[in-house]
Amino acid sequence: MRGGAHRGGGTAMYSRILGTGKGIPGQVLTNFDLEKRVDTSDTWIVERTGIRERRILEEGRTTSDLAAEAGRAALEAAGLPASRLDAIIVCTVTPDVPMPACAVTVQQKLGANCAAWDMAAACAGFIYGLSVGDALLRAGNFRHILLIGVEVLSRAVDWSDRNTCILFGDGAGAVVLGASDQPGILSTHLYADGAQAGLLSIPGGGVICPATAASVASRQHFIKMNGKGVFLHAVRNIARASLDALAHNRLTPDQIDWVVAHQANLRILEGVAEKTKLPLSKFYLNIHKYGNTSSASIPIALDEAVRDGSIKPGQRLLLAALGAGFSWGSALVQW
Ligand code: ACO
Repeated sequence: MRGGAHRGGGTAMYSRILGTGKGIPGQVLTNFDLEKRVDTSDTWIVERTGIRERRILEEGRTTSDLAAEAGRAALEAAGLPASRLDAIIVCTVTPDVPMPACAVTVQQKLGANCAAWDMAAACAGFIYGLSVGDALLRAGNFRHILLIGVEVLSRAVDWSDRNTCILFGDGAGAVVLGASDQPGILSTHLYADGAQAGLLSIPGGGVICPATAASVASRQHFIKMNGKGVFLHAVRNIARASLDALAHNRLTPDQIDWVVAHQANLRILEGVAEKTKLPLSKFYLNIHKYGNTSSASIPIALDEAVRDGSIKPGQRLLLAALGAGFSWGSALVQW
């Protein structure tokens, strides 16, 4: 059977993260490189965002290449062959092509034989994917799911727009989720407010504005953003979602070991720290290296924190993100 959609396996109390991985392009684009492209400066970017450099996917490579690289690393860390996967979920807003799903290409690249589909919730994609993956595992639909967050935003960014081009980067992060009797994913909370859709969008390339010579000439296929509006909503809603996760699990900030939040802007995370009383020292930070990699940012940070020994077995992690939509959410994880 190829791509079996429902394999069963009995209900499990919990799902757990069994392994993490990442795929990071080799090409580095520093703030100093950007100074040569647009009217900006390293000082401005570092002060306003905390970003020093970001990675750009090499020409000829694709979203599914990066996703497969991250997926392979996560499978290796979990000690699970691709043949034992029941599903691959790829969270992305920058797939190889609009159709078919990026996940089916990843399935082929990994040599897997399982269900595969994409999910789009922008920077909140990984939290949404984690919630869906956790529910499917606990319901007994599947035993092992590969969850990947991947973006190649360098190909959706207007490199002449200094308001946006300084923020984003490319990358992929992945986790293998497995059904378990031991606590792992303790809770997920998901939210959305489509009334704010206009603050951050790519207007062109869909049904409203299909690709034409005129739409391309007017740069409709690039990210458009109201930075201040996004900033305010991000601080408020990431903080609220984090507090909801704490309240749901009857935990106080001092009982959290690590906050692995979406790396959009260091100042957003400082605002979240202040509102939640979660000290910034508990936030795992790698934004200076990668910029905003949207749905890839939490799984990349997770992978780095696990591999450098920051995250240890038994610790409690709070994950939280907000992205275009707005869509946002949080997850409480027992490592
Ligand atoms: N370099 C130099 N100057 C710049 C740049 C730049 N790259 N970009 C804007 N400016 C200028 C502006 O034109 C403005 O000049 P003016 O005062 O003469 O008009 C001045 O700097 C201040 O601009 P602001 O927009 O007020 O700067 P702000 O402090 O809000 O920072 C930023 C802008 C960094 C975009 C911030 O609003 C932000 O990070 N917002 C969140 C956006 C975000 O994270 N989006 C990602 C997707 S959603 C998510 O992941 C949460």
